[in-house]
Amino acid sequence: MFEKPDELKELFNSKSKEIKAVSDVEQLRIEFLGKKGFVSGLMQELRNVPNEHKKEAGQKINEIKQYIENSISEKMEEIKKLEEKLLIDSAEAYDESMPVSKDMGSYHPITLVKREVEEIFKGMGFTVEDYSEITDDYNCFEALNIPKYHPARDMQDTYYLSSNQLLKTHTSAAQNTILRKYKSNLDSGNPIRAIFPGRCFRNEKIDACHENTFFQMEGIMVDKNISISNLIYFMKTMLSEVFKTDITVRLRPGFFPFVEPGFELDIQCLICNGKGCPSCKDSGWLELCPCGMIHPNVLTAAGIDPEEYIGFAFGLGLTRLAMMRYGVNDIRLFNSGNLRELSQFTEKNFSRPVNE
Ligand code: DAH
Repeated sequence: MFEKPDELKELFNSKSKEIKAVSDVEQLRIEFLGKKGFVSGLMQELRNVPNEHKKEAGQKINEIKQYIENSISEKMEEIKKLEEKLLIDSAEAYDESMPVSKDMGSYHPITLVKREVEEIFKGMGFTVEDYSEITDDYNCFEALNIPKYHPARDMQDTYYLSSNQLLKTHTSAAQNTILRKYKSNLDSGNPIRAIFPGRCFRNEKIDACHENTFFQMEGIMVDKNISISNLIYFMKTMLSEVFKTDITVRLRPGFFPFVEPGFELDIQCLICNGKGCPSCKDSGWLELCPCGMIHPNVLTAAGIDPEEYIGFAFGLGLTRLAMMRYGVNDIRLFNSGNLRELSQFTEKNFSRPVNE
């Protein structure tokens, strides 16, 4: 019994020397330390050792166990480094003259539509702003005139983080930050004109029309004499350019705590030209862009005097726009990672079969 641990150590060392791959290290570990491995076999044999020698024998087994455990960790590190080096060496040997496949990679349809809309707004003097996906209660709700326990929050349940932060439910969450960033424009007599596209999150039951992760594009304009006509003009121009045809829009009253008055901007359904079809639920109209005149409380929260300045805001459903632009009838495609479908979209490809 007393020689056995030493023999085991020797056996382990000789086997360990031969090892060249991570998977073999794992094999070695199982062979020696696994439930039915050598060390456990020795433990079993401990039962037959006379009582007066048990302690000593036990200690020896523990020592060898410790030794094997340590050696295996070291071996694992060593082999990993070796494998990494091999990988790097082989990467260096790649063939530069290999022809590049022209089919590799494509833009996501939402990226395409986003860029298109960005270009149009840039042409009308808007800056394009970036904003994080993680924000807080103040920016997402409070600064937008949605106090705690306001019923408007019910529709915007989201993912809360342990840091008291949350995933933004709408791009409006950036309004306060962007208004503050550009409010000096107003002092120098220039308007604030900005759009900010972004990914939004909501606790949503997923179906063909709803996703828990989707894209919006917010836009704001603030100056001294802004009116609803300015809002309609910008929206109509943008939509007509995106759809390459004259778009008919209508405004309906809509309630959003951060605008007053608030509207739902609908566009005439492009699939049936307003006659009524499944895509527009037979109404002939599609809800595309809620909007309105920025509420005085929102301007005040950003340090802008609502007596002096006025503005409009809109929250374009970018995902919805992409669906209409390309005739996608199931929103789940966008987050599916299905490259066979997702790679069909290009700037030019505007005529994917609708409702297939
Ligand atoms: N943030 C709103 C939502 O996601 C949409 C919205 C409505 C944005 C009206 C606006 C607006 O800027 O004026 O439900």
